[in-house]
Amino acid sequence: MTTADSSALPLSSYLKEQTTSTHESLDQRIMALAPFSSRERFACFLRMQLRLHHATAPLYQNPKLQALLPDLAERNRLDAIQLDCADFDISQAQQQADAEVGNGVQPGSTAEALGWLYTHEGSTLGAAFLLKHAREQLGLSETFGARHLVGHTDGRGLHWRQFKAALDALPLSVEERAEAVKGARDAFAFVRASVEELLAGQQPAAAV
Ligand code: HEM
Repeated sequence: MTTADSSALPLSSYLKEQTTSTHESLDQRIMALAPFSSRERFACFLRMQLRLHHATAPLYQNPKLQALLPDLAERNRLDAIQLDCADFDISQAQQQADAEVGNGVQPGSTAEALGWLYTHEGSTLGAAFLLKHAREQLGLSETFGARHLVGHTDGRGLHWRQFKAALDALPLSVEERAEAVKGARDAFAFVRASVEELLAGQQPAAAV
């Protein structure tokens, strides 16, 4: 489908179309930085995820967004990533610093927030692949170090399709769809910046 007729796409497909190349580049960058090559590197990956979870946690708790997206509150995985960080003895000071970076994010509108949520919820699909690496290369599990990567009990695919269906049912204007794209891209850019700082920059992080 060309950009010219993108306005006919359901919102989730439109967001995917508008972020596919960004996702591909991020995915390749993360894997090139070998987050599963050691526990030290995985700790940096956890801190990157912690920042994203802090950035979106207020959105999962937002009553206006909860009214638009059923079961939004229970999709929040901040608790899981915090437990993973505790497993890896990531210091309180580092966790606090990551919380501050995440809390600095404020989508400019409800539609932008929807874009942020698209990006974060979509990342749970790729998490299946990441969990496999975490298990095989580092011996991590749903009870140690990789809790935040575990799929929903209903199945990742179904859980994601339910989220997309809720997004696609929202009657957004053309302007709001553009804002949602901005939010989704901002979320990818936020993650990319965290990857560059924490994984590429090799900031020291505690290791188990
Ligand atoms: C090395 C890291 C990553 C890998 C290997 C990866 C891999 C994947 C794969 C294989 C899918 C498609 C799964 C399917 O269709 O069944 C996917 C979807 C997705 N991923 Fe990633 N991903 C990674 C990191 C991320 C990150 C950090 C984010 C954003 C925070 C992200 C956002 C998304 C989104 C939004 C989708 C859904 C696309 C759609 O169908 O609309 N991914 N990822």
